[in-house]
Amino acid sequence: MNNPSEKTQIDPDFLKTLSVLYVEDDEEIRELLSRFLHRRVGTLHTATNGQEGAQAFLEHHPDVVVTDIKMPVMDGLEMAAVIKSSSHEVPIIVITAYSERDYFIRAIEIGVDQYVTKPVNTDTLLQAIYKSARHRLHQLEMEKAEKLVVDALEQTIGVLSRAIELRDPYTDGHQKRVALLATAIAEEMGMPADTVTGIRLGSLVHDVGKIRVPSEILSCPRKLTGNEMNFIRTHPDAGYEIVDGASFPWPVARMVFEHHERMDGSGYPKGLKGDEICMEARIIAVADVVEAMNSFRPYRPALGIEAAMAEIRRGRGTIYDPDVVDGCLRALEKADFKFWDRD
Ligand SMILES: [Fe+2]
Ligand SMILES: [Fe+2]
Repeated sequence: MNNPSEKTQIDPDFLKTLSVLYVEDDEEIRELLSRFLHRRVGTLHTATNGQEGAQAFLEHHPDVVVTDIKMPVMDGLEMAAVIKSSSHEVPIIVITAYSERDYFIRAIEIGVDQYVTKPVNTDTLLQAIYKSARHRLHQLEMEKAEKLVVDALEQTIGVLSRAIELRDPYTDGHQKRVALLATAIAEEMGMPADTVTGIRLGSLVHDVGKIRVPSEILSCPRKLTGNEMNFIRTHPDAGYEIVDGASFPWPVARMVFEHHERMDGSGYPKGLKGDEICMEARIIAVADVVEAMNSFRPYRPALGIEAAMAEIRRGRGTIYDPDVVDGCLRALEKADFKFWDRD
């Protein structure tokens, strides 16, 4: 929580773009400050206590909230807590007397952004409003820029994913469908949104190493020989080499490298066990098996979703992570088994 003692050059045009909610029970002060603010900000909403203030906030979604603390019905900090619970990012400035310092700890816990001491110096108040709004705008711009980068990355990965699959018409759309299911599993498991994004992107390129496998082997219409199978089994290694050069904010290279590892060490290429395999790869592994079993292959018909579910139930806790299997079964049931229709 800051006290705006350092002065910033205020851009009056920027102030004119802001909508401000000002909450104060004392009629005289409210009228005085309202008159002052009204001439400087774009839109001013006022309320006479916390409850009215919380309602006005929901109605008008102001850019900044300025509030007194001690008020009847609902005090300013209770109102701040209500507002922050619905809109964590909106800046809240409290106006406080020195005698109200006991409120500081509560104000910090609630996430109040700035305080202005009584008697209010209008310049100081304007500085607080300006700095809070600028800071919020800067945050919003950063979030927007970050989203653009992730979107561009996702589109690039999507292009790469399609390029790999063009070589292998029989598994066309495989990575995309694995990505759909892996994302749903990760969400079922309650993983943070950023981790889920990483899993989606990792899934989209998990078989990128197949680019090194001759297409005659990839689209071979009969069961593969031992040697051909060994060739296919090099794809996690090859994929790791391709992806490792890029600095993703997620462990994409490990997802690619470890997606055929199994919890009991029976997988490849390294025979990693349990926690040695990253959680993202354990999720992709289960989604990969379910998608593959549910899809047609040149050497066999589609085995169906029931068979795929039976397989992951059978391997739950031995070859597959039990939490991932549970998440996958829940995701499939929720989607009414119609995962692939969303293609
Ligand atoms: Fe694979
Ligand atoms: Fe795969």
